[in-house]
Amino acid sequence: MQQFVIQGGRRLEGDMLVQGAKNSALPILAAVLLCKGECVLENCPKLSDVYAACRILSSIGCKCVMQGHTVIVQADAPSKTTISEALMQEMRSSIIFLGALLGRTGECTLGYPGGCELGPRPIDLHLQALRRMGVRIREANGILTCTTPKGLHGARIHLQFPSVGATENILLAAVLAQGETVITNAAREPEITDLAKFLVRCGAKIEGMGSDTIRIQGVKSLTGCEYRIMPDRIVTATWLACAAVTGGELRLLGTDAESLTGILDVFEETGCRCSRTQDTICFSAGCPVKALRYIKTMPYPGFPTDAQAIVMAVLCKAAGTSVMEETIFENRFRHVDALVRMGADIRVAGRAAVIRGVRQMHGAQVSATDLRGGAAMLTAALGAEGETVLTEISHIDRGYDSPELALRAVGAAIERK
Ligand code: UD1
Repeated sequence: MQQFVIQGGRRLEGDMLVQGAKNSALPILAAVLLCKGECVLENCPKLSDVYAACRILSSIGCKCVMQGHTVIVQADAPSKTTISEALMQEMRSSIIFLGALLGRTGECTLGYPGGCELGPRPIDLHLQALRRMGVRIREANGILTCTTPKGLHGARIHLQFPSVGATENILLAAVLAQGETVITNAAREPEITDLAKFLVRCGAKIEGMGSDTIRIQGVKSLTGCEYRIMPDRIVTATWLACAAVTGGELRLLGTDAESLTGILDVFEETGCRCSRTQDTICFSAGCPVKALRYIKTMPYPGFPTDAQAIVMAVLCKAAGTSVMEETIFENRFRHVDALVRMGADIRVAGRAAVIRGVRQMHGAQVSATDLRGGAAMLTAALGAEGETVLTEISHIDRGYDSPELALRAVGAAIERK
């Protein structure tokens, strides 16, 4: 099992090129199932979750090759409609293949995704919506068997909560369904807009992407296209956090500053400077970083839950006391114990964490608990005194493409061992 060994306290300085977005690449890799002809996806990050999505595509009869950061998929004739339990377990977001397989073939059998490290991951909103679109769903022993006896048809769907995955699954099922689908209270995350833009380029008819009402007119077929995956917002936020804890100065290239407004505003509140053009952010750390009186995670355009742990790692050394409330996931403070072991002063009460800034953190032996929690430990380690040994880094590899190389290039002392 691999680990990162980090010598903290090195100031980060220089240019970093931001990788493509995992949360956009995964639904787009499911969406290629809807297309006849070749899809060429550029800027795909090299991540274990992306490899898992490619394995799912291959397992159902698609040709899928990754060359550098480009994935080429031929989904002319998917030969299977079942996704094995083993593949479903490899990646929780494999549920996104449900809408795509239903859209393309009218049926799908897959394992019910269980809970995960963030708490339960229910899919009731996905299933309710698909039922309204004509899907019959039977569940036995954790396996969902979905059929469309009378074909898929459009529907009016109001989501009780703007779930990212449910919005994506409905979109995927709706583009080839008969008639119009209208999603209200849809999630507005930029990765959903990226998925919709890909589908439109393939021939889909979608209006209102990026707003809370999305209208989809079903079309007969979609054809493959070339598409460049958007930059990763959360990886951008992570590198900013790493610069903030080391008193550093970074220029992030190939990013999408507009999709980061909520995050950049938060960094500016802590006293960091973020000057931005469309695809570049010039960042310099506040000296000292200031505490945030109160911040809560919210659906987009609010402050994202995926940046909560990473920003917490910055607040550990801020001047003053910060309060963070997690409103999206039940169990998303598992990184706190590791941060405390590294010298942080954090109290958790229910869904709130109170972070009293300390002058200095120190290295320790810690284990990544989940993807972003692990990234928070990595961030804290870079700003701490001494050596940190970070284990269970397979969590981090799910979302970060060779982070040690990216960080070493700007002055970090980090080795993968
Ligand atoms: C996606 C992102 C993840 C991010 C999350 C919230 C991907 C691959 N993952 O996950 O990184 O943290 O959005 O921004 O894009 N819920 C239900 N019933 C449902 C669906 C969701 O109760 O049917 C609840 C969940 O338990 C959770 C909340 O809604 O508490 C948000 O979930 P959702 O927006 O669906 O997140 P994901 O799509 O799983």
